[in-house]
Amino acid sequence: MPSKTTHVDQFLLIHSARADNWREITTLADAWAANRGERTALEAAIAEVAPAEEYHAYPGGRLLSALAERIATNDAGGAAKLARRISNGLLSHSYRGRPSEWDVHDEMSVTDVPDIMPPGTGEAGGRRPYFEVLFVNSQPAVRWEAFAAEIRRLRRPEDGFIYEPVLVGSFEDAFCAAALNPAIIAVVLAEGFPYRSRHDAPVLRSVLDPLGEAEGPDMSALRLARGLKRIRPELDVYLLSDRQVEKIAGDPAADAVRRVFYAVEEPLELHLAILEGVQARYETPFFDNLKKYARRPIGTFHALPIARGKSVFKSDWIRDMGEFYGLNLFLAESSATTGGLDSLLEPTGTIKRSQELAARAFGADHVFFVTNGTSTSNKMAVQALLAPGDIAVVDRNCHKSHHYGMVLTGAQPYYVEAFPMTEYSMYGAVPLASIKRALLALRAEGRLDRLKLLDLTNCTFDGHMYNVRRVMEECLAIKPDLIFLWDEAWSGFARFSPFLRPRTAMGAAADIEDWLRDPASVSAYEKQHADLGKNPSDEALLAARLIPDPRLVRLRVYQTNSTHKSMSAIRQGSMLLVKDVDFHNVEAQFHEAVFTHASTSPNQQLIASLDVARRQMELDGYGLVMNAIEIALKIRRAINEHPLISKYFRVLGADEMIPAEYRQSGFKDYLAPGATWATAVKAMKEDEFYLDPTRMTLVCGTAGFDGTQFKGLLANEYDIQLNKTSRNSVLLQSNINNTRSDIAHLIRVLVEICHGIEKRLADGGEGERAAFAARVKSLMTDVPDLPNFSHFHEVYRGDAGRTTPEGDMRAAFFNAYDASVCEYVPLIGAECDRRLKDGPEMVSANFVIPYPPGFPIMVPGQVLTQETIDFMRKLDVKEIHGYEKARGLKLVKPDAVAAKAKRQSKAR
Ligand SMILES: Cc1ncc(COP(=O)(O)O)c(C=O)c1O
Repeated sequence: MPSKTTHVDQFLLIHSARADNWREITTLADAWAANRGERTALEAAIAEVAPAEEYHAYPGGRLLSALAERIATNDAGGAAKLARRISNGLLSHSYRGRPSEWDVHDEMSVTDVPDIMPPGTGEAGGRRPYFEVLFVNSQPAVRWEAFAAEIRRLRRPEDGFIYEPVLVGSFEDAFCAAALNPAIIAVVLAEGFPYRSRHDAPVLRSVLDPLGEAEGPDMSALRLARGLKRIRPELDVYLLSDRQVEKIAGDPAADAVRRVFYAVEEPLELHLAILEGVQARYETPFFDNLKKYARRPIGTFHALPIARGKSVFKSDWIRDMGEFYGLNLFLAESSATTGGLDSLLEPTGTIKRSQELAARAFGADHVFFVTNGTSTSNKMAVQALLAPGDIAVVDRNCHKSHHYGMVLTGAQPYYVEAFPMTEYSMYGAVPLASIKRALLALRAEGRLDRLKLLDLTNCTFDGHMYNVRRVMEECLAIKPDLIFLWDEAWSGFARFSPFLRPRTAMGAAADIEDWLRDPASVSAYEKQHADLGKNPSDEALLAARLIPDPRLVRLRVYQTNSTHKSMSAIRQGSMLLVKDVDFHNVEAQFHEAVFTHASTSPNQQLIASLDVARRQMELDGYGLVMNAIEIALKIRRAINEHPLISKYFRVLGADEMIPAEYRQSGFKDYLAPGATWATAVKAMKEDEFYLDPTRMTLVCGTAGFDGTQFKGLLANEYDIQLNKTSRNSVLLQSNINNTRSDIAHLIRVLVEICHGIEKRLADGGEGERAAFAARVKSLMTDVPDLPNFSHFHEVYRGDAGRTTPEGDMRAAFFNAYDASVCEYVPLIGAECDRRLKDGPEMVSANFVIPYPPGFPIMVPGQVLTQETIDFMRKLDVKEIHGYEKARGLKLVKPDAVAAKAKRQSKAR
């Protein structure tokens, strides 16, 4: 294979590369037909794609053989025609719904070909959903075509879905097919296949080896089933055995298998099981019922006049709203919780069932649907898991919902800091050493029992993914019942990529669960315990990769995700996932949290979209996420390697987003020379932080734009919407909806902007060039230092530890309501400077949160330092929540607070 097989994106791009490869084959075939090219070039291009083509149903053996035959018989025109058909079919997916696409002879009609796909016969107007089933078998390859024909003969008009078989004959091929072909959503394993592929294609090994699926003593169908579920947990795996099926079915390793069949049994049973397995993922209990509800002639004597649309469509004045949204929206609007619509506050029917299906899909034990965004999911989790006086170690840079959650519950935050990325005015993530130090400090203060929760953001806004498993294991080694809340607002989709899943809360929790079950884990713990000796020092504990005692660990993991941010849910659709062995102890609190935060009129369409988003990800998520990653890698390359664009813009690589000390594997970036798929997998497994490739920080300060300005330019002039901004960068996010046309549009726009800059610099003379250089320098180098959290004022540290920084933020928050204990000090002016120098200390009454960067520069009760004031003064953003420029900084007066407290206690 050529050297490109070893490039990092070989695997990640192989899927979309297929379409490109077939375009290239078409071009070569056209050239040959027009006497402009060589037949050998065409043959070589086809030979290169041949091994991976076996992992896809289309174009399949018959079309490929026909193409080879036309080439062999020098039918250049026929070959070019067929190559183009295949290429177009792959691009448009037309083969999924049009049987004639599978037909070797274009002119033949469907009925002439008994063994090709029947036309779609699903719901009126729509075709039946299409998928592919991988059959791993030990029959000789010459029999596969006939075998596939037998499978197709099982199709019945009443089947809800239609599938094509993909046949392979080895462990390696099975693994590669499941990894490379996202249309495969069910697998049938017939025992007796060998490990090695019949192809000696290095691409197979370059995919398999880094995933840890090298040849070993156990090459059984059950090992393959487990391996497949590890990369794609959503797959249904069926096992056909002619041995003692009863014994296999009872083997704990058979957990990965949906059903075991005795091989000679009726194949129709298998066919029905496959369809039923897909139906189980396709089912959307709430949405299905909502559709039924919308079809019924319902009269309402209830609130919500908009329901059924009568107040809309009959009105001269708001009919356009009805026309815009369509009738179904109004037919599906209801305030009813009966008639199959269930209640979000106390679900017992379809919502309950939909939540259960979501739990299955996301690897959780329980899921709560939330209809007011992850802002609410976070507050619910914090409220349910913490009581007044409990301590939580919290990333100070986390979303404001966590901070407000702490205020609501009266818990005491112990803020830990993310590493700063000062040059881009943003933060990274919290180093594990800082987290461990916090836990050890609380232990030294005898306050570890008060610590309940570690609350972190994963991935961060800018794409830093924690080594989630390592963080949890090391923390559990210090406090075995610590609860973890991972805010994965941005990365819910990561569940569906084997590449990102280990770095998600649920992925890591599943890995830890496996580890806890392994008897070797106790020995590993005991060995480390003995090595560390009695009462190891904090230094020794910080230096070691701590192993928890599996016998003591209580695995308690929570995740929140904005389903609307990365999957097909309507805005505000969010989920709260639970994987907690002690959930029964907090279940009542969670119900209270639902009652506290959920609207009593939750939006039906939002709930339905959560249900549907889950369905899509379970059936198609693997390919969609692969697409998002592919798009991101293409954008990264297109920008950074473009001779003009890269003069003014660049997307930051992992090496610029993550300091070297947190990239233990030495991984630099996806595009760095020498980067391979294997080095990326190693980094994903080992590094303390890993960059989610779909989150791209595009530096625009070097083109003379600040982030807000550049975001506005793209939105207003070019119809491109971006994610967040920093002083000198913007964040691009690739998603499951992006296409390659989006990349083309973005690149065209960047080229146009660069041309504009070049022209301005060329036409504007020295003055323009000097002004541009000064602007770039100001944006890129005159950046303010990012201030750390200072400390809570003594008056709010009532029962805090002597050396630990937690505090009673809630008391400070409510003091801000009392004007008699508050004051204002202008940010700019002598008074502020004097107070910093001579006191009395200034203590913030509010959260002050500038956008960007969006983290609280001040929290209630925090003492203001020179650093904080300097940062505030340098901020050039318009939006600063909690700060009124006209009045100045709102402060609490600790003396007045203390005096008031004294008065109140006397009065009692
Ligand atoms: C890390 C993080 N958590 C939570 C949220 C809030 O999510 P939602 O917009 O779904 O309320 C955001 C929003 O940007 C976020 O960035």
